[in-house]
Amino acid sequence: MLWKSRCARRCLQTLVCSLTLLLLVGCPQPAEQTPDGKPKKFRIGMSQCNLGEPWRVQMNADIKAAAEAHADLIEVVFKDAQNDTLTQQRHVEEFISDRMDLIIISPKEAMPLTEPVGRAIDAGIPVIVLDRAIVGDKYTCFIGANNKQIGHAAGRWLASRFPPPQEVKIVELKGLMTSTPGQDRHSGFREAIRDEPRLQVIFEAEMNWLGPNARKEMESALARFERIDAVYAHNDPGAYGAYLAAKAVGREKQIVFIGIDALPHEGQAYVRQGVLDATFEYPTGGKEAIETALKILNRQEVPKKIELKSRLFTKENIDRGGQLLD
Ligand code: FRU
Repeated sequence: MLWKSRCARRCLQTLVCSLTLLLLVGCPQPAEQTPDGKPKKFRIGMSQCNLGEPWRVQMNADIKAAAEAHADLIEVVFKDAQNDTLTQQRHVEEFISDRMDLIIISPKEAMPLTEPVGRAIDAGIPVIVLDRAIVGDKYTCFIGANNKQIGHAAGRWLASRFPPPQEVKIVELKGLMTSTPGQDRHSGFREAIRDEPRLQVIFEAEMNWLGPNARKEMESALARFERIDAVYAHNDPGAYGAYLAAKAVGREKQIVFIGIDALPHEGQAYVRQGVLDATFEYPTGGKEAIETALKILNRQEVPKKIELKSRLFTKENIDRGGQLLD
């Protein structure tokens, strides 16, 4: 009898302890209170590499919208490095010395941002790396689409758009090659066309993600080559810049233009207008970054990598919402 009641008491104690623990970790608990007694919000530092491109403006807007749904729990402090690596390094250091609870970073370049992110981790601050990767695995979670897969799909789409035995003279306008999306969009594309010599890259140049640079590079390509059949640009601003160069010399109708990003008001709109022939969605990951941040702050396990899905948009499928890459 005595044994039974002891056992029941112990069970009850365990149950109460577990429930208390569950309550404590069940929802994010900011550690302190403000002087007026209100619970202190978690502060998240968001380091954006630049806001000069529509896609990055969209990323920040997605983060802001997702964070606003949890305004009682988190506050996001945004910093814009204006496309300057040193400034972005400084921003991460500032977030560390300001003792942010978590950092989200979309780094301009892989190598130079690796160390600052590592220092944040050493300081006990979790870091979510968004869209462009860093070197190694000293971060908490990476969120982004598979750029190699997108590049590969662009190559296969081009091969099917020009069935054999047609020859295809291609211009490749590359993003910043010290960033991982530039490297992966390039290598994925080249792998996809490697075994088909009829698909030939006749001109390649770095346009560093910027439309005006792409336009200039395309002007050189047009001046050098009488025949260009396709342009593969690593983003939609680049593809549009190339289109403008071709249009200026009346050659845009002879060329197929492919871009990446597929924002509704940018790439998708270009496809509807017949400016681009194809664009691949590159989700910003803003919403997922906030969802993941909440889990981390809540001390829940998160995967090391969250891969976002991409879709292909062409004139044929755009009204059906594009086609998912598998
Ligand atoms: C914006 C951007 C996008 C591109 C992404 C790659 O800065 O160039 O157009 O898809 O960065 O990181």
